[in-house]
Amino acid sequence: MEDIARIRENFPALEHSAYLDTATTGPFHKRVHAAATRGYDQRLKEGLSIPEYKEWARFIDDARVDVASVFKAKAEELAYTKNASEGINLAARLMNLSPGDNVVIPDISFPSNAYALLNLQREGVRVKWARSIHGAVPFEEITRQVDERTRAVFLCHVEHASGFRHDLERIGAFCRGRNLFFHVDCTQSIMALRIDVKASNIDMMSSAVYKWPCCPLGVGFFYCSARLLENAIPESVGWFGMEDRWDMPQPPIDIHIPGTARRFETGSPNFAGIFALAEAARIYRELGPKNIEERVLRLNTILSERLLGAGIGVLGPFQDDNRSGILYARITDHERVSASLAAHGVRVNLGHGMARISTHYFNTEDEIDRLVSALQ
Ligand SMILES: Cc1ncc(COP(=O)(O)O)c(C=O)c1O
Repeated sequence: MEDIARIRENFPALEHSAYLDTATTGPFHKRVHAAATRGYDQRLKEGLSIPEYKEWARFIDDARVDVASVFKAKAEELAYTKNASEGINLAARLMNLSPGDNVVIPDISFPSNAYALLNLQREGVRVKWARSIHGAVPFEEITRQVDERTRAVFLCHVEHASGFRHDLERIGAFCRGRNLFFHVDCTQSIMALRIDVKASNIDMMSSAVYKWPCCPLGVGFFYCSARLLENAIPESVGWFGMEDRWDMPQPPIDIHIPGTARRFETGSPNFAGIFALAEAARIYRELGPKNIEERVLRLNTILSERLLGAGIGVLGPFQDDNRSGILYARITDHERVSASLAAHGVRVNLGHGMARISTHYFNTEDEIDRLVSALQ
């Protein structure tokens, strides 16, 4: 990875604090900010008529290649969404479950995943919880919950509540072997840790992009594997997701959905947000997914070692394969720690007797030292 000091110049927010809170919201990269602003500037100065709207639509269609390649998918398998929760709900509905079917999900998953499944209880679908132990959810616990009526496993690649990273390839292979749907929420890993949806046999994947990709709120994506697309009928449809979105027919009319995941998009998208996402995908490719992942994990290991060295307890620490960009440190006096962090200019997320600390590629060892001093 190129000189980290130069990389940091792209993030003005890093000048003001040791920003170790990407798991909450990532800071803006100047290029991502410029990409988002471009759309707003155009409207401010010129307005927006059909020819420009069509140009924007073409741009985001072309950008599907870049965004989907982040997780080794095809452009046709990507739908833009407004957030992770929208994708998770799509996934829950697309499975067409029957009364008596069940879905296995870790008990520490980000709640939207559980809510989307609990919402199916009205139709007789059961939710089975894989129990976490001190923030870890062992593979064996997930498989132990699977029975003859299980139809799917839903999980978050990285657990927001502990930083535990699941072995997607192992779980994906298990699901494929049992003919179970496999849905992954990658909000806490995308553009920090590498994901290969094909190698991991992931059927559907949902994400927000305001955390590790450092993009705006109100935009996300949903991946639907080509294998599933064939029979994936969207519950909600609209003009923007039609085969020919510019055809405005009068009755008698029929629905013509495209053969791609674009069918899940209904009306006008968050163009500015998607411009930003496309730029973030380019930056990710330029910096190198492997470089980013290695740095995220290395900083997290250093963080863990330094906290433990200073006598500060951490959740886990998990085995190398289960580590991520998130680490939880135990704190005793919330108010004192909060004041000390502010005095040291360190940003993390505090709550429930813990500090959630995120290490992204732009962070440094000096920032980790500052944090450890603040927590002592
Ligand atoms: C794993 C995970 N999924 C989803 C979300 C929320 O995403 P959205 O607001 O886009 O639905 C979060 C937010 O913290 C998260 O950690």
